[in-house]
Parts: sequence; C-alpha cells; structure tokens
Amino acid sequence: MRNHIVAGNWKMNKNFGEADELIADLVEKLESIDLVDTQLIICPPALYLELASDQSDDSYFMVGAQDVSEHDSGAYTGEIAASMLESMAIDYCIVGHSERRAYHHETDEQIARKVDQLLKHELRPIVCCGEVLEEREANKQFEVVKRQIVDGLFHLTAEQFANIIIAYEPVWAIGTGKTATPEQAQEMHAYIRSLIAEKYGKEVAENTSILYGGSCKPSNAKELFANPDVDGGLIGGASLKADDFLAIATSF
Ligand code: PGA
Repeated sequence: MRNHIVAGNWKMNKNFGEADELIADLVEKLESIDLVDTQLIICPPALYLELASDQSDDSYFMVGAQDVSEHDSGAYTGEIAASMLESMAIDYCIVGHSERRAYHHETDEQIARKVDQLLKHELRPIVCCGEVLEEREANKQFEVVKRQIVDGLFHLTAEQFANIIIAYEPVWAIGTGKTATPEQAQEMHAYIRSLIAEKYGKEVAENTSILYGGSCKPSNAKELFANPDVDGGLIGGASLKADDFLAIATSF
C-alpha cells in the first residue's frame, strides 16, 4: 500500500543560521511525536542539503532537493546533477514545480529528462502538476494535468513508475492562501490515479502516493488528507515553521 508523505518545500527561504535553527527545532520536536506511517521529507535550498542530511541520520525525516539538472555533467553553470545529489545521500527531488515551469520556462519534455536523471541515480522524484487559474475557469484542469502527467512521466516502465511521487498543486492555490476545496483535491487526485491505472494497471495506481500542495496549513490539512486519494501534502509556506509543519504531518 502507498505511504502517507508530507514534504516541506522551503523554496528560496532562510539563511544558513535560520536553516540550522529550523532543522534543530524539527529534530527536537520529532523526538516526542509519533508519525506512525507518515514519511516526512524536507527540501531545503541546495546549499543546506548537507546540513539537513547530516541531521536526518538520527531523526525521522528524509531530505530532498528542489530541482535537478536534466544533464549528466559538464558546462552547465549553476546547475546540480542527479549524480551529485546521489553522492550526498539525498533521496528525493522535487521536479516540475509550477515556479520552475513559469519562471524558468521548464517544459514537460525537460521534466521527463529530469525524472530520467533522478531514476538513473536512484532518487525518488516528486513530480508536480497543476493548472493555472484561467485553465480552471475554462474547465481545462483535467486536460492540462493529463498532458503534464502523460508527457512528463508516461515514457517510464511500470517498474520505474513505482518510484514516482506525484504532487497536485493547483497554481492558483500556491502561496495565495486560497486552498482547493477537499472535493476539488479529491476529484483531481482520483482522476490522476485513474490515468495511472489506465497506463500501468490498478496495482501501480493504488501504490502511487499523490500529494496535495497549495496553501495547505494546520487548519485545513485534516480535511484535505481525509480524502481517500489524497496521500499527504507538499507544503511551502507552512513548512518554514516547525510547529506548523509538524501539525500538518500529524493531520492524518
Ligand atoms: P504553499 O506552496 O504551501 O506556500 O502554497 C506549496 C508549494 O508550492 O509547493
């Protein structure tokens, strides 16, 4: 069966001292929390991955990067290769976040190549999908998400796909305080699972964790996570405070 997963996407926040403090705060608080079968992941800026992974040895969270290069190695200034993440014992990586799609013009084809790089180096991709407001208003959300999933992921074999985590993040809900309703989240998550079942069969679909992201916070996590196809969350703003992040992680 699939896991509950709560992943914190710190985005471009925190200086070194603040990152150190937040990780220490998480480690301390996790000592007295029973996460049962929820996998906690933190995705700090790349500079702090080592700091986070050093601390994760003794506690209950895993560490993920926020992005990866689509290339193996070489003259790509500023980029980070999957092989480098692997060599630092990083286990997860967010791919295709809407901010990368919007500000860095990432395409589904590039996202597919990034997923391939991650799988080649034994990292689990957390692949983001989701429609913008105009697309939802035009009732095109299913079409858009289907294209992102098919073009970004459906070149994989069923065996490879078993390593994929999907995050549905309606772009209009990210950082806006406007959360999808539990019904909207459930409807899209069930649709995504049906696409996976059609392509890879029911068993693979049932085993795929599909996370919700977009203004998820302690006050709404419970009602979102109560849906049968919502397996956890990808948390932005609320992952920057240990108390809020852990309140979400214990909302199942
Ligand atoms: P948010 O961001 O929780 O701040 O809306 C979620 C995300 O972009 O992953």
